[in-house]
Amino acid sequence: MLFDTHAHYDDERFDEDREQLLASLPEAGVGLVVNPGITVETSRMAVAMARRYAHMYAAVGIHPENCHDFVPQQIEELRRLAQEEKVVAIGEIGLDYYWPENPPRPLQQQAFRAQLALAQELDLPVIVHDREAHGDTLEIVREFPHVRGVLHCYSGSPEMAQELLKMGWYLGFDGPITFKNARRAPEVAAVTPPERMLIETDAPYLTPAPYRGKRNDSTYVRLVAEKLAQWKGISAEEMERITWENGRRFFGIL
Ligand code: NI
Repeated sequence: MLFDTHAHYDDERFDEDREQLLASLPEAGVGLVVNPGITVETSRMAVAMARRYAHMYAAVGIHPENCHDFVPQQIEELRRLAQEEKVVAIGEIGLDYYWPENPPRPLQQQAFRAQLALAQELDLPVIVHDREAHGDTLEIVREFPHVRGVLHCYSGSPEMAQELLKMGWYLGFDGPITFKNARRAPEVAAVTPPERMLIETDAPYLTPAPYRGKRNDSTYVRLVAEKLAQWKGISAEEMERITWENGRRFFGIL
């Protein structure tokens, strides 16, 4: 079975067929999904989906692109939501310096630190988004040496990957590794043991080749596993089994 460790089924692009799609995942070979929130509201939706479906788990967090109005009171909301049984991580949190209209960097960093502190307090792993903010991301996560995490849709250098691996972190791989122009991903995969790889879709975004342009969903995570298997010289079945075990270990799903 496949474990899609990162999908956003709270997204409005699933409004028309969310229930049918989620219900159909196990028979399509997807046995587990983690849905991270990107706001307090979507975190609440993630928790509701996890209550409803045995194969769905939730993470709660505020994405850096959505922290314009961040106030410490939102941490209280997240702390309350995190008490739910099927909340397995704090995420999606991090830094995004790509879009000029994003919240100011100091505010992003404040929200990121506050949520890392919450993860430490609750002893939960974190799901981290880092876009064009590699240096600051690494520096800030180092301030929380007891917090384990996954660098979602990893886009940094092989050197930074090795730093994170040394700290006990996992790396998340997504649809873009299947694109013809993926240059860094094979170098990162080369330095990453299969036991530290998580497969993700980031659905509805980042659809793998040859379905680029279509809406992404968890069934396409198979294509990510196949590409990693090819790079690591093992069978797709073996990679599926390893990443399944990795996800369960990382999120503490027994
Ligand atoms: Ni995401």
